Amino acid sequence: ALVPASDRPLAGKRVIVTAGPTHEPIDPVRYIGNRSSGKQGFAIAASLAALGADVRLVAGPVTLPTPAGVTRVDVETAREMALAVEHALPADAAVMVAAVADWRVDAAAGQKIKKGEAQPALTLVENPDILAALGKSDRRPGLLIGFAAETERVVEHATAKRLRKSADWIVANDVSGDVMGGDANTVHLVTADGVESWTRLPKRDVAQRLARRIADAL
Ligand code: CTP
Ligand code: CA
Repeated sequence: ALVPASDRPLAGKRVIVTAGPTHEPIDPVRYIGNRSSGKQGFAIAASLAALGADVRLVAGPVTLPTPAGVTRVDVETAREMALAVEHALPADAAVMVAAVADWRVDAAAGQKIKKGEAQPALTLVENPDILAALGKSDRRPGLLIGFAAETERVVEHATAKRLRKSADWIVANDVSGDVMGGDANTVHLVTADGVESWTRLPKRDVAQRLARRIADAL
Protein backbone atom coordinates (compact mmCIF):
# COMPACT_ATOMS: atom_id res chain seq x y z
CA ALA A 1 0.00 0.00 0.00
CA LEU A 2 3.05 2.24 -0.06
CA VAL A 3 2.36 3.81 -3.43
CA PRO A 4 4.15 7.13 -3.89
CA ALA A 5 1.73 10.05 -4.23
CA SER A 6 3.29 10.89 -7.59
CA ASP A 7 1.88 7.63 -8.96
CA ARG A 8 -1.63 8.73 -8.05
CA PRO A 9 -1.58 12.44 -8.87
CA LEU A 10 -5.37 12.51 -9.30
CA ALA A 11 -6.14 11.08 -5.85
CA GLY A 12 -9.01 13.07 -4.33
CA LYS A 13 -10.07 14.50 -7.70
CA ARG A 14 -13.46 13.71 -9.16
CA VAL A 15 -13.70 13.43 -12.94
CA ILE A 16 -16.80 12.85 -15.08
CA VAL A 17 -16.33 11.02 -18.38
CA THR A 18 -19.05 10.52 -20.98
CA ALA A 19 -18.55 7.79 -23.56
CA GLY A 20 -20.22 5.86 -26.34
CA PRO A 21 -23.13 6.79 -28.57
CA THR A 22 -26.64 7.62 -27.51
CA HIS A 23 -29.66 5.81 -28.91
CA GLU A 24 -32.75 7.85 -29.67
CA PRO A 25 -35.89 5.73 -29.94
CA ILE A 26 -38.13 5.72 -33.01
CA ASP A 27 -40.44 3.13 -31.48
CA PRO A 28 -39.93 0.41 -28.83
CA VAL A 29 -37.68 -1.65 -31.12
CA ARG A 30 -35.92 0.91 -33.33
CA TYR A 31 -33.56 3.78 -32.71
CA ILE A 32 -31.32 6.40 -34.29
CA GLY A 33 -27.69 5.89 -33.32
CA ASN A 34 -24.12 6.33 -34.52
CA ARG A 35 -20.93 4.31 -34.91
CA SER A 36 -19.22 5.29 -31.66
CA SER A 37 -17.81 2.18 -29.94
CA GLY A 38 -17.06 3.86 -26.61
CA LYS A 39 -13.46 2.55 -26.69
CA GLN A 40 -11.74 5.94 -26.46
CA GLY A 41 -13.92 7.17 -23.61
CA PHE A 42 -13.59 3.93 -21.65
CA ALA A 43 -9.81 4.01 -22.11
CA ILE A 44 -9.74 7.58 -20.78
CA ALA A 45 -11.85 6.59 -17.77
CA ALA A 46 -9.44 3.70 -17.10
CA SER A 47 -6.35 5.92 -17.37
CA LEU A 48 -7.81 8.55 -15.06
CA ALA A 49 -8.72 5.90 -12.48
CA ALA A 50 -5.21 4.43 -12.75
CA LEU A 51 -3.88 7.87 -11.75
CA GLY A 52 -6.10 7.81 -8.68
CA ALA A 53 -9.11 9.84 -9.83
CA ASP A 54 -12.65 9.19 -8.61
CA VAL A 55 -14.12 8.58 -12.07
CA ARG A 56 -17.85 8.77 -12.84
CA LEU A 57 -18.33 7.19 -16.26
CA VAL A 58 -21.64 7.99 -17.96
CA ALA A 59 -21.88 5.42 -20.72
CA GLY A 60 -24.22 5.18 -23.66
CA PRO A 61 -25.17 1.74 -25.01
CA VAL A 62 -21.87 -0.09 -25.61
CA THR A 63 -20.62 -3.61 -25.00
CA LEU A 64 -17.49 -2.85 -23.01
CA PRO A 65 -16.45 -3.96 -19.52
CA THR A 66 -16.30 -1.34 -16.77
CA PRO A 67 -12.66 -0.32 -16.17
CA ALA A 68 -11.20 -1.11 -12.75
CA GLY A 69 -11.97 1.48 -10.10
CA VAL A 70 -14.55 3.35 -12.20
CA THR A 71 -18.13 4.11 -11.15
CA ARG A 72 -20.37 3.58 -14.18
CA VAL A 73 -23.88 4.79 -14.97
CA ASP A 74 -25.50 3.40 -18.12
CA VAL A 75 -27.86 5.54 -20.16
CA GLU A 76 -29.63 5.23 -23.48
CA THR A 77 -30.58 8.68 -24.73
CA ALA A 78 -28.98 12.13 -24.82
CA ARG A 79 -31.49 13.44 -22.32
CA GLU A 80 -30.71 10.60 -19.92
CA MET A 81 -27.00 11.32 -20.37
CA ALA A 82 -27.56 15.00 -19.57
CA LEU A 83 -29.38 14.06 -16.35
CA ALA A 84 -26.72 11.55 -15.32
CA VAL A 85 -23.97 14.13 -15.85
CA GLU A 86 -25.90 16.64 -13.76
CA HIS A 87 -26.25 14.06 -10.96
CA ALA A 88 -22.49 13.35 -11.09
CA LEU A 89 -21.63 17.00 -10.36
CA PRO A 90 -19.69 18.61 -8.82
CA ALA A 91 -16.45 17.54 -10.47
CA ASP A 92 -12.93 18.87 -10.80
CA ALA A 93 -12.86 17.94 -14.47
CA ALA A 94 -15.17 16.56 -17.14
CA VAL A 95 -14.13 14.80 -20.31
CA MET A 96 -17.00 14.64 -22.78
CA VAL A 97 -16.07 11.86 -25.16
CA ALA A 98 -19.58 10.65 -25.97
CA ALA A 99 -20.89 10.91 -29.50
CA VAL A 100 -24.21 12.35 -28.39
CA ALA A 101 -26.96 12.11 -31.01
CA ASP A 102 -27.63 15.64 -32.21
CA TRP A 103 -31.30 14.94 -32.82
CA ARG A 104 -34.03 12.77 -31.39
CA VAL A 105 -37.39 11.76 -32.80
CA ASP A 106 -39.93 14.32 -31.64
CA ALA A 107 -42.61 11.82 -30.67
CA ALA A 108 -41.36 8.23 -30.51
CA ALA A 109 -44.17 5.74 -31.20
CA GLY A 110 -45.46 3.86 -28.16
CA GLN A 111 -45.97 0.68 -30.19
CA LYS A 112 -43.89 -0.89 -32.94
CA ILE A 113 -44.58 0.87 -36.23
CA LYS A 114 -45.96 -1.66 -38.72
CA LYS A 115 -45.03 -1.54 -42.38
CA GLY A 116 -47.75 -1.27 -44.96
CA GLU A 117 -49.48 1.43 -43.00
CA ALA A 118 -48.57 5.08 -43.62
CA GLN A 119 -44.86 5.68 -44.35
CA PRO A 120 -43.40 6.82 -41.06
CA ALA A 121 -42.29 10.45 -41.30
CA LEU A 122 -39.78 11.21 -38.57
CA THR A 123 -39.75 14.73 -37.18
CA LEU A 124 -36.41 15.37 -35.49
CA VAL A 125 -35.74 17.86 -32.73
CA GLU A 126 -32.35 18.92 -31.41
CA ASN A 127 -31.00 17.27 -28.27
CA PRO A 128 -29.60 19.26 -25.36
CA ASP A 129 -25.88 19.99 -25.75
CA ILE A 130 -24.44 18.52 -22.57
CA LEU A 131 -20.96 20.03 -22.98
CA ALA A 132 -22.24 23.50 -23.83
CA ALA A 133 -24.62 23.37 -20.84
CA LEU A 134 -21.74 22.45 -18.53
CA GLY A 135 -19.71 25.30 -20.02
CA LYS A 136 -22.40 27.77 -18.93
CA SER A 137 -23.28 26.09 -15.64
CA ASP A 138 -22.49 27.67 -12.29
CA ARG A 139 -21.24 24.19 -11.40
CA ARG A 140 -18.86 24.11 -14.37
CA PRO A 141 -15.93 21.77 -13.64
CA GLY A 142 -12.64 23.66 -13.36
CA LEU A 143 -11.29 21.77 -16.36
CA LEU A 144 -13.81 21.13 -19.12
CA ILE A 145 -12.72 19.00 -22.05
CA GLY A 146 -14.70 18.23 -25.19
CA PHE A 147 -14.04 15.99 -28.13
CA ALA A 148 -14.74 16.95 -31.71
CA ALA A 149 -15.27 14.28 -34.32
CA GLU A 150 -14.56 15.84 -37.71
CA THR A 151 -14.09 14.54 -41.23
CA GLU A 152 -12.64 17.76 -42.72
CA ARG A 153 -11.03 21.05 -41.59
CA VAL A 154 -10.49 19.28 -38.28
CA VAL A 155 -8.59 21.93 -36.32
CA GLU A 156 -10.66 24.82 -37.66
CA HIS A 157 -13.94 23.20 -36.59
CA ALA A 158 -12.46 22.16 -33.24
CA THR A 159 -11.18 25.65 -32.50
CA ALA A 160 -14.64 27.08 -33.16
CA LYS A 161 -16.22 24.39 -30.96
CA ARG A 162 -13.88 25.21 -28.06
CA LEU A 163 -15.10 28.78 -28.01
CA ARG A 164 -18.75 28.04 -28.78
CA LYS A 165 -19.01 25.52 -25.93
CA SER A 166 -16.79 27.36 -23.42
CA ALA A 167 -14.52 24.34 -23.13
CA ASP A 168 -10.93 24.61 -21.94
CA TRP A 169 -9.65 21.95 -24.28
CA ILE A 170 -11.00 20.23 -27.35
CA VAL A 171 -9.54 16.93 -28.41
CA ALA A 172 -10.09 17.01 -32.14
CA ASN A 173 -10.53 13.68 -33.70
CA ASP A 174 -10.08 12.99 -37.41
CA VAL A 175 -12.81 10.45 -38.14
CA SER A 176 -12.42 10.45 -41.91
CA GLY A 177 -10.69 7.02 -41.73
CA ASP A 178 -11.59 3.93 -39.69
CA VAL A 179 -11.41 5.61 -36.30
CA MET A 180 -14.92 4.83 -35.18
CA GLY A 181 -14.73 1.34 -33.75
CA GLY A 182 -11.01 1.10 -34.56
CA ASP A 183 -8.19 0.88 -32.04
CA ALA A 184 -6.10 3.92 -33.02
CA ASN A 185 -6.76 7.61 -33.13
CA THR A 186 -5.17 10.74 -34.64
CA VAL A 187 -5.91 13.73 -32.42
CA HIS A 188 -5.10 17.40 -32.08
CA LEU A 189 -5.26 18.99 -28.64
CA VAL A 190 -6.77 22.47 -29.02
CA THR A 191 -6.30 24.77 -26.01
CA ALA A 192 -6.14 28.50 -25.35
CA ASP A 193 -2.40 28.22 -26.01
CA GLY A 194 -2.78 26.75 -29.49
CA VAL A 195 -2.83 23.37 -31.17
CA GLU A 196 -0.75 20.31 -30.40
CA SER A 197 -0.94 17.49 -32.93
CA TRP A 198 -0.25 13.97 -31.72
CA THR A 199 0.86 11.24 -34.09
CA ARG A 200 -1.54 8.38 -34.74
CA LEU A 201 -1.62 6.41 -31.50
CA PRO A 202 -3.48 3.45 -30.05
CA LYS A 203 -6.55 4.72 -28.19
CA ARG A 204 -5.01 3.43 -24.96
CA ASP A 205 -1.98 5.70 -25.49
CA VAL A 206 -4.14 8.71 -26.36
CA ALA A 207 -5.97 8.04 -23.09
CA GLN A 208 -2.77 7.81 -21.03
CA ARG A 209 -1.35 11.00 -22.49
CA LEU A 210 -4.57 12.88 -21.94
CA ALA A 211 -4.89 11.61 -18.36
CA ARG A 212 -1.32 12.76 -17.63
CA ARG A 213 -2.13 16.18 -19.07
CA ILE A 214 -5.24 16.39 -16.92
CA ALA A 215 -3.20 15.48 -13.84
CA ASP A 216 -0.68 18.23 -14.68
CA ALA A 217 -3.48 20.77 -15.16
CA LEU A 218 -5.26 19.90 -11.92
N1 CTP B 1 -21.73 17.09 -27.13
C1 CTP B 1 -22.58 17.07 -26.05
N2 CTP B 1 -23.94 17.07 -26.26
C2 CTP B 1 -24.44 17.10 -27.50
C3 CTP B 1 -23.57 17.12 -28.62
C4 CTP B 1 -22.21 17.11 -28.40
O1 CTP B 1 -22.12 17.05 -24.91
N3 CTP B 1 -25.76 17.13 -27.67
C5 CTP B 1 -20.28 17.12 -26.88
C6 CTP B 1 -19.56 15.88 -27.33
O2 CTP B 1 -19.51 14.90 -26.31
C7 CTP B 1 -18.18 16.44 -27.65
C8 CTP B 1 -18.48 17.84 -28.14
O3 CTP B 1 -19.75 18.19 -27.61
O4 CTP B 1 -17.39 16.54 -26.50
C9 CTP B 1 -18.48 18.03 -29.61
O5 CTP B 1 -19.38 17.15 -30.19
P1 CTP B 1 -19.61 17.24 -31.76
O6 CTP B 1 -20.66 16.25 -32.16
O7 CTP B 1 -18.28 17.17 -32.44
O8 CTP B 1 -20.14 18.75 -31.88
P2 CTP B 1 -21.53 19.38 -32.29
O9 CTP B 1 -21.64 20.66 -31.53
O10 CTP B 1 -22.62 18.41 -32.09
O11 CTP B 1 -21.33 19.74 -33.81
P3 CTP B 1 -21.44 18.84 -35.15
O12 CTP B 1 -21.87 17.45 -34.77
O13 CTP B 1 -22.43 19.55 -35.98
O14 CTP B 1 -20.05 18.87 -35.74
CA1 CA C 1 -22.69 16.32 -33.00
